[in-house]
Amino acid sequence: MAEAKDNKLEKITSWSKRRGFIFPGSEIYGGLGGVYDFGPYGTALKNNIKKLWWKTFVEDREDVVGIDSSILMNRAVWQASGHEGGFTDELVECKKCHKRFKADDMPEEKCPQGGEHELTEPKAFNGMFKTFVGVTQNDDAQTYLRPETAQGMFVDFKSVLETSRKKLPFGIAQMGKCFRNEINTKDFLFRVREFEIAEIEYFIKPGEDEKAFDMWLENWEKFVTSLGIKPENLKHYEHPKEGLSHYSKRTVDIQYNYPFGWKELTGLANRTDFDLKAHAQASGKDLQYFDTESNEKYFPYVVEPTLGIERLMLAIICDAFEELEPRTETTEAVTEKEIVLHFDPRLAPVKIAVLPLMKKLSEDARKIYDDLKSCFGGIEYDESGSIGKRYRRQDEIGTPFCVTVDFDTIEKDQCVTVRDRDTMKQERIAIKDLKNFFFEKLV
Ligand code: GAP
Repeated sequence: MAEAKDNKLEKITSWSKRRGFIFPGSEIYGGLGGVYDFGPYGTALKNNIKKLWWKTFVEDREDVVGIDSSILMNRAVWQASGHEGGFTDELVECKKCHKRFKADDMPEEKCPQGGEHELTEPKAFNGMFKTFVGVTQNDDAQTYLRPETAQGMFVDFKSVLETSRKKLPFGIAQMGKCFRNEINTKDFLFRVREFEIAEIEYFIKPGEDEKAFDMWLENWEKFVTSLGIKPENLKHYEHPKEGLSHYSKRTVDIQYNYPFGWKELTGLANRTDFDLKAHAQASGKDLQYFDTESNEKYFPYVVEPTLGIERLMLAIICDAFEELEPRTETTEAVTEKEIVLHFDPRLAPVKIAVLPLMKKLSEDARKIYDDLKSCFGGIEYDESGSIGKRYRRQDEIGTPFCVTVDFDTIEKDQCVTVRDRDTMKQERIAIKDLKNFFFEKLV
């Protein structure tokens, strides 16, 4: 069973490279561990996920505002937040093969030199990437690439509060690149060194935090399942009290059933007033909230739902990926299995492919393509190869609809054939009704 599942990750990795979704970073130079680049379809998929997240949690909500803070922050931020002292993993090294591992995540492999690995005592290893601001490379110029976006929202809390005129409870959301110098990167996009986090710091009156936590856990899970991830592939993991991060009163992960096992997809933490208090103390600035209803000043509590975009993207791909016996007729003898990606139409990189049955029909097909493109993004035009081969190509990148233009379209009925990726059902639709037809399916 485990073997079949590992195999699925290998298949996905090779499909994603072959079809322009995800490539190893700096590949022509032999790559760079734990760094990936997104190709044209991968970028479209990722952007569609991010757009939906932003719409759901920022644009559609009255109680959340979005910001975009810098990746580089004053080193004092990371000292106050506890990251400089505490964002560490235990590193061990095998004395025989000199491979390094995370002490609490040892692989089952044997030492390539023979027998078991012979490990050194664990040493603390800070996961932040160090860098220098300006031309001098000394301690005063040193800072880090951010390992989370959260601190930007705490540091900007007062400015956002004053300019947005929000009252508790309210949230600040942002999404952006984060960097972690992981000891071991593995499982494709699951553990990488450069990735994006989408997270919300939701500020509430102390005492209202537990209710807010439950509300956000429900919202977060609803969002993940709304993207098409099957509920049976998700479960909660409640962190034991003794294993909580230094800032957390309660942490719950939503785990996904990845091909390599149940692993954290996303998480929620009750960060209490830890961060605002720490930054107020270190900066000397008043980061308390004045409650006009009760006439008191206090540090709000914070519930933080957080989500790694790459982990979500990997879960979406794993859930949507299906390998089938050949189901589409082609003129060529095709024996290998067909791959179909059952993406939610809102996420699919290409939403509609316009396919003239013969090259002679290209002028008319192009008119339909131009018209659809002006209305919906992500439309592809393809006239090369047999129609069966073109359907397969689109199924492989998860295009939900193909529009075929044939001779009847021009000579008889002004209708096209619309093929559904999942059911393979074909319907004749009048060209004049196409936009409305797709508007209902895609928007
Ligand atoms: N602000 C809280 C925070 O950063 P985290 O659990 O350390 O919490 C947030 O990270 C999310 O980022 C995780 O739930 C996971 O989805 C994702 N994540 C963390 N480390 C990652 C890595 N090395 N590669 C890919 N995604 C990662």
